[in-house]
Amino acid sequence: TWTMTSFIEDTVASIKERVGNGSALCALSGGVDSSVAAMLVHKAIGRRLTCILVDHGLMRQDEVEEVERVFKEQFNVNLVVVDASDRFLSKLKGVTDPERKRKIIGEEFIRVFEEQAKALGHIDYLVQGTIYPDVIESGRGDAAVIKSHHNVGGLPEDIDFKGIIEPLRNLFKDEVRKVGLELGMPEKVVWRQPFPGPGLAIRIIGEVTPEKLAILRHADAILRAEIAKAGLDREIWQYFAVLTGMRSVGVMGDERTYDYTIALRAVTSTDGMTADWARIPYDVLSNISNRIVNEVQNVNRVVYDITSKPPATIEWE
Ligand code: XMP
Repeated sequence: TWTMTSFIEDTVASIKERVGNGSALCALSGGVDSSVAAMLVHKAIGRRLTCILVDHGLMRQDEVEEVERVFKEQFNVNLVVVDASDRFLSKLKGVTDPERKRKIIGEEFIRVFEEQAKALGHIDYLVQGTIYPDVIESGRGDAAVIKSHHNVGGLPEDIDFKGIIEPLRNLFKDEVRKVGLELGMPEKVVWRQPFPGPGLAIRIIGEVTPEKLAILRHADAILRAEIAKAGLDREIWQYFAVLTGMRSVGVMGDERTYDYTIALRAVTSTDGMTADWARIPYDVLSNISNRIVNEVQNVNRVVYDITSKPPATIEWE
């Protein structure tokens, strides 16, 4: 009978055999799939696995630090964090079209990853967090294709690998989570909500600037904290803040303000293909709204998005 423990033992053994004395490289995004895939390979070959986390400067508050804490400190993984935020931000300067943002970020991601890989010298295998639904979705049986709307813009072309290791390709998401828990990974990692590769760039309508990123990060952190406090973090598929490009009039003390509107988006879903807006209790919404307008500079209005997918998408861009 199939158990998590035997899956882990078998997978680790076969990775050991395949890699031998060789080395492997993994692009870590902080997401569940790449994290669990990396941990399995790490269990097999230890520090001969190098993980690279490209920090594009579009992550949520404390996210990069949390990944570092778990991988470097808790599990002694050989993790390289590349702070490339200036590069991404300068490429995104003046760009407002959502698809152009995605393209720029995807391409820059590959560029940074390849540079880092080359700096490491020869690498034998590339580790991918592909799971079973990705295999189905991309309609492939054998050749490795990166997850269709993925964090990474494509496979690096400039680096030679002997092969690709995809330890999760027969697993569904809930099984990936079980493996993660069995490996001793923190719940925070294992239950992380889906987060798009282009990150906060597609949650800022219009041009991405450091100022807007700071506003959005702060508002989003408040939303996440309140959702967790209310115990809703497992039943809601995704919950996040959007910095709408819109400003409106408000009043603070005797002063008139003219500031940004934050939109809250929270949806229930099983696969992200269709979704419904989450029926968050009014008092929870009220706490979130009060905290955001009181604590976040330059925000004087909060709205809740009550559209389902379709016709709306989950993200705003
Ligand atoms: P939409 O907005 O299309 O999102 O309803 C469906 C799911 O996909 C995620 N998403 C992305 N993930 N790169 C990603 O890695 C992207 O460009 C991207 N766009 C949307 C979204 O967060 C949701 O889970």
